[in-house]
Amino acid sequence: MLSFSQFPVSLFFFLSILTASLAANCHVNDQSGLLAFKSGITSDPSGILASWKAGTDCCTWSGVSCGSDNRVTSLSLSGQPEKNQILSGTISSSLSKLKKLNSIYLTNLKNLAGTPDFLLALPEIQIVYIENNKFSGHVPASIGNLTQLYALSFLGNRLTGRIPSSIGQLTQLSQLKLGDNMLIGTIPNTFSKLKSLSYLSLEKNQLSGSIPNLFSSLRELRILTLSYNKFTGNIPTSIAALAPQLRFLELGHNYLTGKIPDFLGKFRALDTLDLSSNRFSGTVPKSFANLTKIFNLDLSHNLLVDPFPKLFVKGIESLDLSYNNFHLGTIPSWVTTSPIIYSLKLAKCGIKIKLDDWKPKTTYFYDYIDLSDNEISGSPIVLLNKTDFLVGFYASGNKLKFDLEKLRIVETLKDLDLSRNMVYGKVPKAISGLQKLNLSSNHLCGQLPPTKFGANSFAGNDCLCGSPLPPCKP
Ligand SMILES: *[C@@H]1O[C@H](CO)[C@@H](O)[C@H](O)[C@H]1NC(C)=O
Ligand SMILES: *[C@@H]1O[C@H](CO)[C@@H](O)[C@H](O)[C@H]1NC(C)=O
Ligand SMILES: *[C@@H]1O[C@H](CO)[C@@H](O)[C@H](O)[C@H]1NC(C)=O
Ligand SMILES: *[C@@H]1O[C@H](CO)[C@@H](O)[C@H](O)[C@H]1NC(C)=O
Repeated sequence: MLSFSQFPVSLFFFLSILTASLAANCHVNDQSGLLAFKSGITSDPSGILASWKAGTDCCTWSGVSCGSDNRVTSLSLSGQPEKNQILSGTISSSLSKLKKLNSIYLTNLKNLAGTPDFLLALPEIQIVYIENNKFSGHVPASIGNLTQLYALSFLGNRLTGRIPSSIGQLTQLSQLKLGDNMLIGTIPNTFSKLKSLSYLSLEKNQLSGSIPNLFSSLRELRILTLSYNKFTGNIPTSIAALAPQLRFLELGHNYLTGKIPDFLGKFRALDTLDLSSNRFSGTVPKSFANLTKIFNLDLSHNLLVDPFPKLFVKGIESLDLSYNNFHLGTIPSWVTTSPIIYSLKLAKCGIKIKLDDWKPKTTYFYDYIDLSDNEISGSPIVLLNKTDFLVGFYASGNKLKFDLEKLRIVETLKDLDLSRNMVYGKVPKAISGLQKLNLSSNHLCGQLPPTKFGANSFAGNDCLCGSPLPPCKP
């Protein structure tokens, strides 16, 4: 029997449990919308949705957050495919019952299919990251109605069709990422109204036409990635307006033509410039000397000619000038002195040095060195003896002359191409740790060590023998 003093405490305790459970129960529409989402999931091997159970408060479910009125405001599910943390199935249109949803993150779930149409029924939505799933269909033509949108990303899906011009109505947008889909058509001119945009990603689509000349009003833009499309024409002059703040400009793998504009040298904040695999011609502007903050520069696979300007970079991290019409003669001094370089690609750059004479200031960070198709003589023995983390060394089509048995093959090395040189000696056992090897067209001799590589890797040498080549003569 309850004593008088215990009673009020117990009652208070009972009432507080009652009110807490009532208050914490999420709205019935939100609950049914989420359960319908779950029922569209056919496989959830790691139990991402294990806590989503009917009869429990959906505000406590993993990935679900509620606002003060117990309406669901945010849904955030993120997979890790390498740990089999994925979801398979189709997103339910019932998610549009979550009327107060302001942010939705469905990232790296890999096999989640569906279309973006359910978003149209969520007028308060501000943040959409539906990345690296299997979403298909079109970007809805009426997406421009969702004027609260601040970030919109469908990166890494299978969207088709054109980019709707109504996106221009989303004037709050700071991030727009449609990269790595199957979109066609041109960039709508209405993009000129996206004055708050700081991140625009359209890479890896099938977009075509010229890059529209609409950048003069996009003063906040810091990242612009248009690589791997079918854009034609010149770099538009209005890009010059982005000079004070643009940090990433990626236009590689398109069909762009004309000269590299002088104004790019004014981009003092530029960190990464990728113009590779286009049809840019003429010289690289002298103004590039002022790109002192550039870390990643890729001008490879164009039609650029000499003279290459001297750059005053503080430290380049990765450089690719391969396959143009350069005759650099030597490896530029601003490369040799860089304290942080990890990737150097200067294939077919008209380099005529003795490799032993090249004394880079630091070799510590090197992952990749590609000096293929030059006129480089001497030996890489000293260089490779100083690189502890090298993953790829490519020097085919040069005049290298050294004893292969003296070459240190570091454990990290996966890819070695020394084809078409004058390398002599025997093939060392250490090649067994490599994933790719090409020693063809050299002067190697003697019995091959046990190897997984085919005869192609060893063809055209003086007297190599043993499997996969014909047996050695006794
Ligand atoms: C949404 O967009 C469509 C087509 O662009 C338009 O007809 C409709 O009136 C818009 N709805 C609202 C609520 O603004
Ligand atoms: C580098 O910038 C300075 C200052 O804007 C300018 O005077 C100079 O001409 C530029 N250098 C080159 C090579 O364009
Ligand atoms: C390779 O490096 C080791 C250790 O630094 C050194 O003792 C050796 O002389 C070097 N060999 C060549 C060929 O540079
Ligand atoms: C090796 O290189 C030669 C010439 O550089 C090339 O023709 C051949 O296809 C390459 N073989 C392999 C196995 O990569």
